[in-house]
Amino acid sequence: MRKNFLPFHLPSIDQDDIEAVVDSLKSGWLTTGPKTQLFEHEFNEYVGCRHAIAVNSCTSALHLALEAVGVGKADLVIVPVLTFTSTAAAVCYTGATPLFVDICPNDANMDSDKIDALLYRLGTDAKRAKAVIPVHYGGYPCDLNSIQEITRQHGLYIIEDAAHALPTKYNMQMIGTIGDLTAFSFYATKNITTGEGGMVTTENDQWAENIRKNSLHGMNRDAWKRYRAEGSWYYEVTDLGHKYNMPDTAAALGLQQLRKCDLFHEKRCAIAHQYTQHFSRMEAIELPGSTVNAINSCPDGYQHAWHLFPILVSPNRLKIDRNRFIQELQKRNIGSSVHFIPLHFHPYYAERLGYQKGDFPVAESFYERTVSLPIHPRMTDEDVRDVIEAVYDITIQFKR
Ligand SMILES: Cc1ncc(COP(=O)(O)O)c(C=O)c1O
Repeated sequence: MRKNFLPFHLPSIDQDDIEAVVDSLKSGWLTTGPKTQLFEHEFNEYVGCRHAIAVNSCTSALHLALEAVGVGKADLVIVPVLTFTSTAAAVCYTGATPLFVDICPNDANMDSDKIDALLYRLGTDAKRAKAVIPVHYGGYPCDLNSIQEITRQHGLYIIEDAAHALPTKYNMQMIGTIGDLTAFSFYATKNITTGEGGMVTTENDQWAENIRKNSLHGMNRDAWKRYRAEGSWYYEVTDLGHKYNMPDTAAALGLQQLRKCDLFHEKRCAIAHQYTQHFSRMEAIELPGSTVNAINSCPDGYQHAWHLFPILVSPNRLKIDRNRFIQELQKRNIGSSVHFIPLHFHPYYAERLGYQKGDFPVAESFYERTVSLPIHPRMTDEDVRDVIEAVYDITIQFKR
């Protein structure tokens, strides 16, 4: 058994990241400034989008995106039930109501048939639906063609939650260039990090302008320059904005991380390959269909970002449940996590929206069985082997 604990995640911070942040601190410019501008520019180029606006989290990116398309009180926004609270919380911040849909068993992404069914059930209230927020679970792309067919028919906006989806491709296109607006996360555990941070991308000039302004108090254009030689002290507040801007210290880290994004991705792919090779032979473990697809016969033009590597514990083959499986991993010094507790299980959403256990059977069954294993670029070959061995050991010890 391994001697030291392998955490579920460790950020990949090298000397160049540290030096970039120190340089930024020494530059005398700590808040939004030239580093943030450069980070946005390089992000634009990497993803291939028209506008990228850096903010302080994906949560704020989602909030600003929803506001930009005019979502507000009395509107409805459709979100998958298996996601982090931010996806639905951002909807609530606008005064609108989130409506949940179940996931596909194959990839844990939102099920487009269920969106259709929900809109049908809403009847005349379907007119209140304004947007859909697909979440690319774990970094595997949602079926955006099917979702787009529905959104076109009903006049809904698509705001993608791409917190896990850098660098994800759908039909050869980078996520960040497809939906009306896309929100990325650079939280500490994400594929690239700024500690805390996010980015909104869009092709629409007006939305980009609106988001830029509202990420900084609703102050008019380039207000961030007011303390620079070329800036002016005068500004006007033209909207009720937020304090969601990204500081330069974070952007300095983001720039270094972005330049290593492909390298990080290669490492994640290599770990995913090794895991899949071994786990697909273990009877007590199931892999989501999308994992097997992504490794063996990824649909043409799809790229999995491998932010997560979930396995599913098979209750018919093991004497222990998911929670005990996690404890057994911990006993063997392997950290793991669960993504996600379905939103309708959280008291806030259950009470506010009136959902009950049993309303989303696919997500509930996935949740009961899923364990997210460590997958990050700092893992050594030995770490990967230890995870595989620990899983193997548990499946043998507790075989039914
Ligand atoms: C699917 C999803 N959406 C949104 C977020 C929120 O990201 P942030 O912490 O950058 O606000 C997360 C964070 O873990 C997430 O997993």
